[in-house]
Amino acid sequence: MFSDGEAYERSIGRWSRVVGQQFLDWMAIPPGQRWLDVGCGNGAFTEEIIARCAPCAVSGLDPSQEQIDHARRREAGKMADYLTGDAQALPFADGAFDAAMMALVISFVPDPAGAVAEMARVVRPGGWVGAYMWDFTAGGVPTHPLSVGAKELGIQWAQSYAADVSRLNVLKDLWLAAGLAAVDSRVIRIRVRHESFDAFWNANGQVGPSGKAVAALQPETRARLREHLRATMPAGPDGGIEFDAWANAVKGRVAVP
Ligand SMILES: C[S@@+](CC[C@H](N)C(=O)[O-])C[C@H]1O[C@@H](n2cnc3c(N)ncnc32)[C@H](O)[C@@H]1O
Repeated sequence: MFSDGEAYERSIGRWSRVVGQQFLDWMAIPPGQRWLDVGCGNGAFTEEIIARCAPCAVSGLDPSQEQIDHARRREAGKMADYLTGDAQALPFADGAFDAAMMALVISFVPDPAGAVAEMARVVRPGGWVGAYMWDFTAGGVPTHPLSVGAKELGIQWAQSYAADVSRLNVLKDLWLAAGLAAVDSRVIRIRVRHESFDAFWNANGQVGPSGKAVAALQPETRARLREHLRATMPAGPDGGIEFDAWANAVKGRVAVP
């Protein structure tokens, strides 16, 4: 679903970074820490960790070899050590990191509780465990207009993620159930802007759940959806398309025995 790093950047990576900046400010982790970016994808959020948090070391892990290859090519992410792997079985020793994060990943992991337990395991006592996920249940994802348009036209739309896990209270409960301390949560809201309707459409038709759903449509159905959205998405005076997107974020500390 997330194999093309460049298509991911056009669709979601750039918005992930905008949310990630606010998220990292909220995490307020001091410099010089060892970070783990779980589900790092094409390295968009990893770059933000490096730029904003002055880590002493960063590891990025993702199941997609193509995304890892893309992340390795990013100049700003060069200090990170990237590897393939699964959030539910992290290939690291207990307490190997000071901080572990999952940016826009938890709804795609079959066993979210297992993944949170794994992050808590590989972070040392007193370290930080955090995550954020688009609020899928309330329309927070930057590709939301696509599924709205499909619904309005009665087009069958595949949902290939666990929407419920993205709820603020569900995230908080997962953190508490993992035994994390000082658990807190918040909503992070951003403004998504595309310079034109075509820019919006072209950015979102290839990667991720919505991209795959668009790609799976018959050509005439896809064209019908595109023209419906063109007619119903309000453009500004300069032809730009703007709307809100938001993610739910959660953080906690590994309990000190
Ligand atoms: C929406 S992308 C987020 C990428 C990146 N963290 C960001 O913020 O831009 C979701 C990522 O989760 C990864 N993913 C899916 N299942 C996973 C799993 N079981 N363990 C780790 N990562 C997973 C995907 O390969 C994909 O790169």
